[in-house]
Amino acid sequence: MHSATALAALGFGASVLAQQAGTLTTETHPSMSLSRCTSDGCVAEDDSIVLDANWRWTHDTDSSTNCYTGNTWDSSLCPDGTTCAQNCAVDGADYESTYGIVSDGGALTLTLKTGDNVGSRVYLLGPESENYVKFDLRNKEFAFDVDVSNMPCGVNGALYFVEMDRDGGMSEYENNKAGAKYGTGYCDAQCPQDIKFINGIANVDGWTPSTGDANSGTGSRGSCCNEMDIWEANKVSTAVTPHVCNKSGQTACTSNSTCGVGDARYDGVCDKDGCDFNPYRMGNESFYGDGKIVDTSSKFTVVTQFITGDSTDTGDLTEIRRLYKQNGNVIQQATSDISGVSGNSITDDFCKAQKTAFNDTDSFESRGGVAAMGDAFSRGMVLVMSIWDDYAADMLWLDAPYPADADTSKAGVVRGTCAADSGVPATVESDSGDASVIFSNLKVGALNSTYS
Ligand SMILES: *[C@@H]1O[C@H](CO)[C@@H](O)[C@H](O)[C@H]1NC(C)=O
Ligand SMILES: *[C@@H]1O[C@H](CO)[C@@H](O)[C@H](O)[C@H]1NC(C)=O
Ligand SMILES: *[C@@H]1O[C@H](CO)[C@@H](O)[C@H](O)[C@H]1NC(C)=O
Ligand SMILES: *[C@@H]1O[C@H](CO)[C@@H](O)[C@H](O)[C@H]1NC(C)=O
Ligand SMILES: *[C@@H]1O[C@H](CO)[C@@H](O)[C@H](O)[C@H]1NC(C)=O
Repeated sequence: MHSATALAALGFGASVLAQQAGTLTTETHPSMSLSRCTSDGCVAEDDSIVLDANWRWTHDTDSSTNCYTGNTWDSSLCPDGTTCAQNCAVDGADYESTYGIVSDGGALTLTLKTGDNVGSRVYLLGPESENYVKFDLRNKEFAFDVDVSNMPCGVNGALYFVEMDRDGGMSEYENNKAGAKYGTGYCDAQCPQDIKFINGIANVDGWTPSTGDANSGTGSRGSCCNEMDIWEANKVSTAVTPHVCNKSGQTACTSNSTCGVGDARYDGVCDKDGCDFNPYRMGNESFYGDGKIVDTSSKFTVVTQFITGDSTDTGDLTEIRRLYKQNGNVIQQATSDISGVSGNSITDDFCKAQKTAFNDTDSFESRGGVAAMGDAFSRGMVLVMSIWDDYAADMLWLDAPYPADADTSKAGVVRGTCAADSGVPATVESDSGDASVIFSNLKVGALNSTYS
């Protein structure tokens, strides 16, 4: 689940002609290194990060008049989605002062609240700064260090992969002239409808300002694609979750049924629930947390391995494994302690058994299960890092009893030690606006090559 609480920032400086051609720009991408590893060692690649277009100041291409203010569109600049995309520009970003995003090249810090801005979402951009880096993790592993010690209940510091277009949709959609350089083209398995421009069209049709979130709203279109959540976490709980869709690549959904809204949740293009492995939810309450086996009061390394059936880089994905390293010790993922569910990794058998044990609807297998996640990797996925709070469900699905009124003695209900009334965004933002996550030491490579 990912909400985009975006700020319509007022800013200065030259603009890019939005989803039009630009001349000048103040956009400077913070650098971020990615190490590519084999059994012989690692080689660093000089990449950078780019802020999602949804957070950017969106204004008239000819002036500084806002196209979007707070959570509403300007009706004269944006009478319809296509005209709006032609009239409006997304601007360069001041990463640190407006959005609280700081990188020293190896470590990226994201802060929950900076001024009026809430949260952020960034993508890994390749050395040429025009295209996102695409990852195929079949028969590979991805590793990073994370510091979640300043991440309380209700806040999520996420690192994950989604099947966005390499160029942010610029070559495919004529009204998108900003592209990956300006963070366009986001999609995920929630088919988010708070995205302001989807496939070169502003999401003006049916736009409904959020009642709780002063910066956000939803339109009639959503942006769907496969999503591999390696890391959704705070200092209390963590989950690793593949979500698959029955369509390849990024696609727009245009109805409640294809977007999977409300009662149609399980009819949509994508599997919104996913198949999650959260050690606490799987019955091990002493594994992850402050002072626990994986001790979230200090930094640790997270390694996620993608095993194929035939142990080749092109084989079917069959298993997703997790290990941690902290203070020199390698710590294997906790084993399920739930009756009827075995193992400490994600496989189709694990997912089926877990859905049955928790009486959850299974919308993962019907869209292809673990192998479908591998198929998405074969086409390439984009790395996302974000910090967010949750206007839809108070992050209870990650760190607390969920649903809030469910019987907590039932297996699968409790996901962490946070209270059932925790995670309310207004409270989180006023009490913990300075919450922050630090991601560092990104590495990708052959199995067992990144952490020993
Ligand atoms: C789509 O779902 C929303 C939210 O549940 C609802 O308000 C709206 O009426 C639905 N639209 C249609 C066309 O059914
Ligand atoms: C995708 O899944 C939905 C819901 O199960 C279904 O209605 C739709 O027909 C499927 N589409 C494809 C292309 O398989
Ligand atoms: C939790 O995980 C640790 C490490 O794998 C293990 O030693 C411990 O027995 C587990 N506890 C439960 C209740 O399963
Ligand atoms: C399982 O879920 C279904 C539908 O969500 C519900 O009707 C049923 O009562 C649940 N069963 C148990 C044992 O909780
Ligand atoms: C990686 O390490 C694990 C545990 O040490 C071992 O079981 C596995 O065979 C190794 N895989 C490869 C490809 O080296």
